[in-house]
Amino acid sequence: MINVLFVCLGNICRSPMAEFVFKDLVNKKGISKEFYIDSAATDGYNEKTKEGIYYETKNILKEMNIPFTEHISRKIKKEDYNKFDYILGMEERNVSDILKIVGDDKENKVHRLLDYTEKPRDIIDPWYYGNFDSTYYDILYGCERFLEYLSNNNNIK
Ligand code: 4NP
Repeated sequence: MINVLFVCLGNICRSPMAEFVFKDLVNKKGISKEFYIDSAATDGYNEKTKEGIYYETKNILKEMNIPFTEHISRKIKKEDYNKFDYILGMEERNVSDILKIVGDDKENKVHRLLDYTEKPRDIIDPWYYGNFDSTYYDILYGCERFLEYLSNNNNIK
């Protein structure tokens, strides 16, 4: 079992998008049983207000025919470090915030999603900068390359 946690600031736009895009990719490959996939926030604000997935993220997922279920924002916990094999932030700020919560990354689990691509960089926050189409294509690109990386390194069929 490979446990993957996608993380962003609010857990209502980018990380749930990545969660369901990645679930769709592994479903289509018939390897979903090999994975546990979740998403979380570095900030606790949306957890307190029990915020669900932002409607623009839902709209993109619907437009791209990517199935999703409801997901209520939850803040990443220190214990998540042991539970997950890969903890993937969307941008550098997420990575530094994750490390503040989980402590030292002794097992080298914490990366940015686009670090698995030929063009390592941040996925900018659509909540503030508002382009959900480019967010989707960044996330799809990152998820595809991350799955290729796993196939090459973890003997996924
Ligand atoms: P996300 O976007 O990190 O991609 O989920 C955000 C959503 C909400 C807020 C910030 C970022 N917020 O401040 O409520």
